[in-house]
Amino acid sequence: MQRTIIDDVARDFELPLSRMQAIRKAVGAEMDAGLAGRKSSIAMLPAYCDAATGHEKGDYLALDLGGTNFRVSMIRLPGAGKPPRVVAEAKYRLTREQISGAGTVLFDAIAGYLGKFLKDHAFTHPHALGYTFSFPVRLLGIAEGILLKWTKDFSAKGVVGRRIVTLQRQALARKHIGNVTITALANDTVGTLQARAVLDPDCAAGVILGTGFNIAIRVPTRRIRKDYGNYPGASMIINMEAGGFGKALPRTRLDRKLDRETGNPGHQFAEKMMSGKYLPQLVRLAMLEAIRKDRLFGGRVPDVFARQESFGGQHMDAFIAGSRTGIDAVSRDLFGAPLPPAERRALVTACRTVSRRSARLAAALIVGALSRAEFRSARRVTVAVDGSLFEKSPGYARLLQAAIRELDGASGRRIRLMLTKDGSGIGAAVIAAVAGASAGEQGCA
Ligand code: GLC
Repeated sequence: MQRTIIDDVARDFELPLSRMQAIRKAVGAEMDAGLAGRKSSIAMLPAYCDAATGHEKGDYLALDLGGTNFRVSMIRLPGAGKPPRVVAEAKYRLTREQISGAGTVLFDAIAGYLGKFLKDHAFTHPHALGYTFSFPVRLLGIAEGILLKWTKDFSAKGVVGRRIVTLQRQALARKHIGNVTITALANDTVGTLQARAVLDPDCAAGVILGTGFNIAIRVPTRRIRKDYGNYPGASMIINMEAGGFGKALPRTRLDRKLDRETGNPGHQFAEKMMSGKYLPQLVRLAMLEAIRKDRLFGGRVPDVFARQESFGGQHMDAFIAGSRTGIDAVSRDLFGAPLPPAERRALVTACRTVSRRSARLAAALIVGALSRAEFRSARRVTVAVDGSLFEKSPGYARLLQAAIRELDGASGRRIRLMLTKDGSGIGAAVIAAVAGASAGEQGCA
């Protein structure tokens, strides 16, 4: 049989062990540079808190901004290592205008939703609030930070370079919400780490493999050579902003093309090869080439590939799973009829190829990150993971675990990946609790 374009893509997207090892090594070097305040593709942003101990206690509000769904929740931390509980929760879909219009529109919308949530549930007492803000933020302490840049296609104006909590507080005042105090600001990866750490003291990393990709890691404070204020603890969690990693990556023609089509060209190279927002777009670009050069679909571009975001993660998952009935059902939705064998095979291969490369890249980045981590046990470490790719994409978690074993199997240490949902809610509450305790002896500045 003749070699097809999709066969070529599959070959270009392979990530052999030697390449994973090179990436792991480059990650360590970039982490060192980032921690020393030198130029690095990984920002290594201090989170100003250490991993939870399980003793955190109380009721906390949590806000979660990081994707197109915005969430408010009320979380109960029972303390004594017992599992936290979501007492109430509401999700709201943000509009394009809210995520890319004036910053005040975004913060007013968030304040409005919070106000509605408090009213709907009759929460009238004063409450401390943990704010998960899942973008690159340089924290000034546990409860304030400056947005360095937007990622994941957010672009609200007048926010980059400004203090997030101040902007949000002003919006709360405009909406007359007076009984809420924002006491902690955190990244979703940090929240994910914390949501696991309350239950498992061996947790040293939090990973998001969803719309975006990123890692938080617990490091010994002595490794941090740049300014970290007057933080007193011996270890600190760092939001790596690992999606920005850009060294030793085998970027292909398709990766470069995708980058040019995004709202932030030249940034977030690892994220664009790995996360759920971009994988379907890589499949689309591969299919467009196959349609043009191999005359798939009779050489005519189907509507679903003509537009940039019509082909999505849920479609990819059906092709990856590979069941004929599943594929026929999505194909009817996408193309109006089941696909002929050549088109079906091409899509299955394209989807599996980009998903597999993502899992292997994630393995190299996670093992690289662990090379600089501080562990509570020498024999095992838990990595808390959240996000649709890890949770839902068929075979993804298994590929990731296998690639980690390939890279780290000889170390004598066990790396446990634990699905940890709701880091942005529970985790934010834990951070607010840790921050509250910091006035005492808890290690948060
Ligand atoms: C993007 C953001 C990062 C976040 C990740 C996962 O990479 O820059 O802060 O953690 O997405 O949501």
